[in-house]
Amino acid sequence: MEVMEAIKTRRSIRKYKTTPVDDKTIEVVLEAARWAPSWKNTQCRRFIVVRDDKIKSQLANTLRGTKEGVANPASNAIRTAPVVIVVCAELGKSGYNLGKIATDKGDLWYMFDVALATQNLTLAAHSVGLGTVHVGLFDAKRVTDIMEIPPGFCVVEMTPLGYPDEEPEVRPRKELSEIVFYDKYGSR
Ligand SMILES: Cc1cc2nc3c(=O)[nH]c(=O)nc-3n(C[C@H](O)[C@H](O)[C@H](O)COP(=O)(O)O)c2cc1C
Repeated sequence: MEVMEAIKTRRSIRKYKTTPVDDKTIEVVLEAARWAPSWKNTQCRRFIVVRDDKIKSQLANTLRGTKEGVANPASNAIRTAPVVIVVCAELGKSGYNLGKIATDKGDLWYMFDVALATQNLTLAAHSVGLGTVHVGLFDAKRVTDIMEIPPGFCVVEMTPLGYPDEEPEVRPRKELSEIVFYDKYGSR
């Protein structure tokens, strides 16, 4: 699939078929994540591939809704998709130069590196017919315990991975005229 087509036709998928995803296909998706650029090529991201139904269910229970009594729309997808990928980052690498924080963003650059990798992952998944949805609204402490993530690493996001069982509507995007400036901020 051509890159622009993949970018424009990918959708967040929250309903999955039970069809299994084979190891080779998962490897294609992880390979795309592996090749993403990172701060000084420090490659802080780590991926946990979850197939175990009990662990998927525990992960689904960590998702939070946007308000009291409203479930996260991705909860069921985490519970029922054949695979869930939990993405973590090693801390103290991205955003550092000679062991010291190098910019005003502190150590937050690990979020950037994880985002680049997971964007590659979701686009590659889409290109081979798989669905994903970035999930960020969960109790990170509980996920850390469930996944036994060691000190010095933190969980950033998770995504279900499987064959889509829905064709969601396109979510609108701002027009370029709303988000692009020329020469100086605010100049159109
Ligand atoms: C950082 C991040 C966190 C997100 N967290 C959630 C989430 O917790 N639950 C969910 O259902 N969708 C989540 N989403 C998906 C967004 O709602 C979705 O990408 C957006 O509405 C645009 O839709 P599209 O992906 O189909 O283009 C998240 C997306 C991003 C980038």
